[in-house]
Amino acid sequence: MKSILITGASSGFGRGVSVELAKRGWRVFAAMRDTSKSGSLIEAAKAGGVTDRIEVVELDVTVPASVEAAVADVLGRCGGTLDALLNNAGYSVLGAFEDLSDGECRQQMETNFFGVLAVTRAVLSSMREAGHGRIVVVTSNAVNSPHPLLTMYAASKWALEGWAEGLAMEIAPYGIDVALVQPGAHRTEFASNVQFVSGTGGAYAQWIDGALPGISNLDSWGRDPALAIGPIADAVTAPAVPFRQQLGEDSKIFAMLKGNMPFETRALLLRAICGLPAPYAFTSGGAPDSADYPVLSQVLGKFIGSAARDPGLAKTVARSFGIAPTTAGG
Ligand SMILES: NC(=O)c1ccc[n+]([C@@H]2O[C@H](COP(=O)([O-])OP(=O)(O)OC[C@H]3O[C@@H](n4cnc5c(N)ncnc54)[C@H](OP(=O)(O)O)[C@@H]3O)[C@@H](O)[C@H]2O)c1
Repeated sequence: MKSILITGASSGFGRGVSVELAKRGWRVFAAMRDTSKSGSLIEAAKAGGVTDRIEVVELDVTVPASVEAAVADVLGRCGGTLDALLNNAGYSVLGAFEDLSDGECRQQMETNFFGVLAVTRAVLSSMREAGHGRIVVVTSNAVNSPHPLLTMYAASKWALEGWAEGLAMEIAPYGIDVALVQPGAHRTEFASNVQFVSGTGGAYAQWIDGALPGISNLDSWGRDPALAIGPIADAVTAPAVPFRQQLGEDSKIFAMLKGNMPFETRALLLRAICGLPAPYAFTSGGAPDSADYPVLSQVLGKFIGSAARDPGLAKTVARSFGIAPTTAGG
């Protein structure tokens, strides 16, 4: 029976994939930092008739001793090596970057980035000696489209993707492959686990409330998590798997846009989608030279909608395509 260690299995994708892989005949070590939260996993396993294939393990990805003990325990139970590791545990801090403390930024990296490194490092030597294994990493559509207020989340997932590209080439000769999955928005417990840092009364407060529904209210527009659980399980079990794949229409579209549009244009789109304030909106003089681009502004307004008709838009788009003349003050 093939075996896998899954981090962050107390909820969301981790719980769902644990049950799905158990149904596919895998032995699943479902890791969570607080095993008292295993109730919903056990219930789901019972409903799926797979309780005998799921073993709950205590593992906090940010605590080295916890990672070491959990991996030693799991390897002891499954004959010295795992067939796969699913690095899934993660959360997001949400707030204007200027309002985030250094500690909040570092904690984001500790969990989402260094946590993945620690668990991967702990299993690698056994996979290398066995001559096979697969490391699956859950990153995010934040890699294709970083959102304002989620700067550190995007940073943590971008860091993972760069690390994974290098790692994949290092460990391929030992029969170990790496696969990244980039889910778009899904209605897991992710939104309720977001760590919201409110700069109450701060400079950004005037627009954050208006932008939040478009950025973090996954319950209103996220997909059913079940739609991602099968494909994540496939990334573990398929004989050959793409190195990087998007899960969900939003992730697929933003990956395509990232490959074809400069950042300035994507930023405009996101501004329209989330209702973000225009550049220079909070400065006294307004945009320096937006009047230089009235026709382009009208054309874009027709395509993108009135949300995009704001001072400076045409100038930004023109610049992003390298067609903007240099003007004083702009
Ligand atoms: N849902 C989405 O829209 C979405 C989109 C893109 C990417 N993702 C990614 O998908 C992964 C799973 O998220 P989800 O949507 O399933 O959200 P979720 O339901 O909140 O699950 C996150 C899991 O990570 C665990 N976790 C957090 N910090 C941990 C730590 N220090 N050590 C061990 N486990 C820890 C949580 O445990 P506790 O229960 O103890 O908090 C929970 O089990 C994350 O990496 C997330 O970034 C999600």
